[in-house]
Amino acid sequence: MPVVRDRGHAKRFVCPYHAWTYDTEGRLMGAPHMEESQAFDRAACSLPQYRLDSWMGFLFVNLDDDAAPLQPVMASMESAVANYRIAEQTEIFHYETEWEGNWKLVAENSMEYYHHIALHAGTVGVQMPAKGTYIPAAPATDDTFTHERCRMGEKFLAGADHPMNPRGDLGGLTQEELTTGYMVYVFPAFTMAMRPGTNNWLSFRPDGPERTKVLGGYLMWKDIATEDPELGRQRREMIAKVNEEDSLATTELARTMRSRKATRGPLSHFEGTIAQFYKYLARSLVAPAASAKLATTPLSGRGAPVSSPS
Ligand SMILES: [Fe+2]
Repeated sequence: MPVVRDRGHAKRFVCPYHAWTYDTEGRLMGAPHMEESQAFDRAACSLPQYRLDSWMGFLFVNLDDDAAPLQPVMASMESAVANYRIAEQTEIFHYETEWEGNWKLVAENSMEYYHHIALHAGTVGVQMPAKGTYIPAAPATDDTFTHERCRMGEKFLAGADHPMNPRGDLGGLTQEELTTGYMVYVFPAFTMAMRPGTNNWLSFRPDGPERTKVLGGYLMWKDIATEDPELGRQRREMIAKVNEEDSLATTELARTMRSRKATRGPLSHFEGTIAQFYKYLARSLVAPAASAKLATTPLSGRGAPVSSPS
């Protein structure tokens, strides 16, 4: 029985089935009416432990006790995202949902701006048209992540007096960072789509071959979030629409991939990221111990209190 079903804070965990009570380390504190059981050994009844790591306020759980540590994976792209000051951001909304389709379809959708040209033509495609896509120089270590940038449309440039723009302190961002969206996809299943002051993150967990659990949230620099709640509201509306579009696409892709006529197709030069992703998968499948065990799927929302037994 899960002893935690919600987000929040707790001094102890009480099992809703028989009221056994555990401390936040997972140690059993009390078990009603168990004194007469000869098999009962309180110390042997702790909650299981899972690997927990953190990065910039995100919490990552890995069910594999032998998984490689998270830090080296994230460290490889830290310098690329440093100016976005992720650790100074707060989550202004959070969502957990399920989409139809294999997780790799959802993953592909999260690493290229090319589909802004049609699928998101009425939403983020207006702000970041597909034609502005380019892939920055390959990172020194490109076996843990891939990335892509897209130039923002003229009237959506950060710093201009436009209602969609964050009006916080944009200092520290380069000209390139001020004028583009930046998408980083950390293998296997964690992604961040950044703009000046904001970060739309997602993580994916397969739920069988044709369903994917989607976990995500929207981060903003704290000063923008408090000074400009209206911007948060606008972004929430926008993200909801974009997610609806992406969810529809993966559902339809999953359906057509079952067709006997489904075949492979070529990638555009805006989709080198996808090629990198499949190379990563190939490496992982050939040598699973090398990279498949990396812990890159947050189990819970940013900043949520995740204790190892939850
Ligand atoms: Fe999309």
